[in-house]
Amino acid sequence: MEDPEGQTPQAEEPVSSRYICTANHGFAPFAQEELRRLFGAVKSTLLVPGEIFLATLQVEPEEVTQLLLNNLPIFLRHIQPVQFQDEAGLPALGRLATYLNSLSHLQGQTIALHVRKGGNSFWQESPGELREWLQEEVKGLGAEFSVHEPAWVISVYADDDALYAGVCRPEENLSSWNGGAIRFRKEESQISRAKFKLIEAEKEFGIPFNSFRRGLDIGAAPGGWTSFLLEHGVQVTAVDPAHMHESLKNYPGLKILRKNANELKFRENEFDVIVCDMSWSPKLMAKMVTGLLHSLVPGGTAVVTVKLMHKKPLAMIKEIIEIFEAERMQIQRAKQLFHNRDEITLYMIKY
Ligand SMILES: C[S@@+](CC[C@H](N)C(=O)[O-])C[C@H]1O[C@@H](n2cnc3c(N)ncnc32)[C@H](O)[C@@H]1O
Repeated sequence: MEDPEGQTPQAEEPVSSRYICTANHGFAPFAQEELRRLFGAVKSTLLVPGEIFLATLQVEPEEVTQLLLNNLPIFLRHIQPVQFQDEAGLPALGRLATYLNSLSHLQGQTIALHVRKGGNSFWQESPGELREWLQEEVKGLGAEFSVHEPAWVISVYADDDALYAGVCRPEENLSSWNGGAIRFRKEESQISRAKFKLIEAEKEFGIPFNSFRRGLDIGAAPGGWTSFLLEHGVQVTAVDPAHMHESLKNYPGLKILRKNANELKFRENEFDVIVCDMSWSPKLMAKMVTGLLHSLVPGGTAVVTVKLMHKKPLAMIKEIIEIFEAERMQIQRAKQLFHNRDEITLYMIKY
């Protein structure tokens, strides 16, 4: 049929955008559910089972960014756009270089180039070597390659049967780390790997630990979180029936209470920060921590890990958040950090 101006109407292309999405291992189904709740139908293909998937969303990229940044997800750790897709192999890499060289908005900019490989990638060398090769190939852009405050991020994913790439602003990735994987080196004297969770929370949520004077650490043993607080100049009351690490004995500014947290009473407004990392049922943890919140000053910070022992974590997390909200806690972020295993981290401020 012809329209009045004599033109044959074209069927409009459905709007869609594609992304490689990453969650902690085993949590991809919950990241997919988060996307479904925000964007409706999501077509997805697993790239790494339980962890990385390619998602097609029926909305414009701008809308994806806006909705995600206004509703920061808990389980979706990282997202990278797919604007270029080709078959696996070296000729496709050449075509990717040509494509990137054609993007005039990248000229002379600071760019972070993130390269990841799938399990059986056609690229046999390391991702770092692919990054170096690609940087050389796109020299014509006159760009500076740096992970520090880049204007743009180029994300490349070399899988066994395809090559994917996309360019976006850093905040659109949800994490400035390649694939959202933030890694720290374990210090020789580090008491527990659990400490990484609090280091990551500090960086990810921008928590000003240096500004706190008095802290309560519930479920503190062996003492990774306690040592983190002490190193930030916080005087710590550490509560745990289990033993704290030898190195913390007689540490100035540390009071150790070898007790069950349920047995304790504290004064009003005794602490500026409360942290809790107990391997406990989430509801019991929330009940116990809320029972101690009178000791947190208004404006004080709480960081707690919530174990995901439940089959429906999203519903359970909502319930736990509601328990805290009913006790004058404003949720700043709920997120499964890279260093969280079967748990998430809640960052809250008391009002
Ligand atoms: C995962 S560990 C904490 C690790 C610690 N954040 C670190 O960085 O070293 C959990 C701790 O919670 C403690 N815990 C469990 N129930 C508790 C309770 N009712 N009161 C105090 N501590 C408890 C356990 O004894 C255990 O040491």
